Amino acid sequence: MGCQYFEPCDHGAGTFTVAMPKLTFGRGCLSEIGERAQARGFTRVALFTDPTLLSGPYVATVCDSLKKSAIDFEIFSNIRIEPDDRTIIEASLFLVEGNYDSVISVGGGSSIDTAKAAMVYACYPADFTDYFGAPVGAGKPIPGALLPHIACPTTSGTGSECTSVSVIRLNEHNCKFVLGSPYLLPVEALVDPSCTESLPANVIASTGFDLLCHALECYTAKAYTRWPVVASPKQRTLLQGANPWSDMAAKKALEIVGEFLSRGVNESSDTIARDQLMWGATLAGMAFGNSGTHLPHAMSYGVTHYMRDIETEGYSMSSPFVPHGISVVVSAPAIFRYLATGAPERHLEAAGYLGASIAGATKDDSGEIVGARLVELMRETSMPNGLKGLGFNDNDVRPMTDSVIRQTRAIGNAPRETNAIDIENIYRDALTLW
Ligand SMILES: [Fe+2]
Repeated sequence: MGCQYFEPCDHGAGTFTVAMPKLTFGRGCLSEIGERAQARGFTRVALFTDPTLLSGPYVATVCDSLKKSAIDFEIFSNIRIEPDDRTIIEASLFLVEGNYDSVISVGGGSSIDTAKAAMVYACYPADFTDYFGAPVGAGKPIPGALLPHIACPTTSGTGSECTSVSVIRLNEHNCKFVLGSPYLLPVEALVDPSCTESLPANVIASTGFDLLCHALECYTAKAYTRWPVVASPKQRTLLQGANPWSDMAAKKALEIVGEFLSRGVNESSDTIARDQLMWGATLAGMAFGNSGTHLPHAMSYGVTHYMRDIETEGYSMSSPFVPHGISVVVSAPAIFRYLATGAPERHLEAAGYLGASIAGATKDDSGEIVGARLVELMRETSMPNGLKGLGFNDNDVRPMTDSVIRQTRAIGNAPRETNAIDIENIYRDALTLW
């Protein structure tokens, strides 16, 4: 490719793959679900949603649309925010017992990820960690196709409707890990931005920073040409590093979040901003679904592993709970200040897309500029001031690091080599951000 960032290197990949579901975006498109399911031959649908959405208007729209198209369905709604292995086992039993030919998910990342993972264990029963990578799992590939899945996100952050991964908390480890396979990709996504109108400010903020970090991690990820060449296309993971496709979507997502995040959070009636954030989340999903994330997401799992005595306004989860997007962004300014020397031009460009002034800046300034812009956005949207703002202190740094160091693929996708001492130092820098 023409971009210097993707120049070939010895033994590096020369090929990348783009995977995408068929995508429909726009206000009101949720009501198309019946006809779309019918067109795909769905006759008996397992409908996944969460308890807070169950009696609300979006699930009602989907149910009405399915009924109009004479499609039989049953609902599974016992889904917790940030699903764990218990949730997935229960959901997979629901699938096995119901004899379904298809799946629809309506909700945030938790509903979509539950639907994805439940299908794995319903279709290919195994010990729960068999399909997770080392060191926690056996690293077995998911053997084959799952049920056709139409995903309908109701928050503007997850991007899960466009990805081949599902993030699950393993209770044995009290930590989240990623299940990944091309078979997890939904066949279709219906993205209706009107679903975000009723979301509280803090949910827009958390999901907005999730989308921001998806895009920023994609754009700054290790180039796909720096990952080893694979012997067979079956071995090519879709978390394949930065590539021209992901760049394109990530760049636009960064521009959107830089312009509209504060508006969308601070003014609930600003439908233009909230619609834009939903499009940004979709673009960021298209991007990171084909590049993978890196250190901010990996280090967020240390936060959710050791969080205590904390809850977040706007979320129904009891303590301890830190929303995913906040757990990701809370260390991000310190992380990008550290990583920038691995790809300074990229960090500078990304800061510019996010709305930072980069006129006259040099490569040496890139880490500080992107870190400062992230802090600025966090302050505009009332985010916690670093890890201390979430109740962590210096004593937590070592155990959090020990937890995170297991996220080997994500750490390896960063633009700079990172060891346990680096991660400890970054966490310390992230204790207080301003
Ligand atoms: Fe995320």
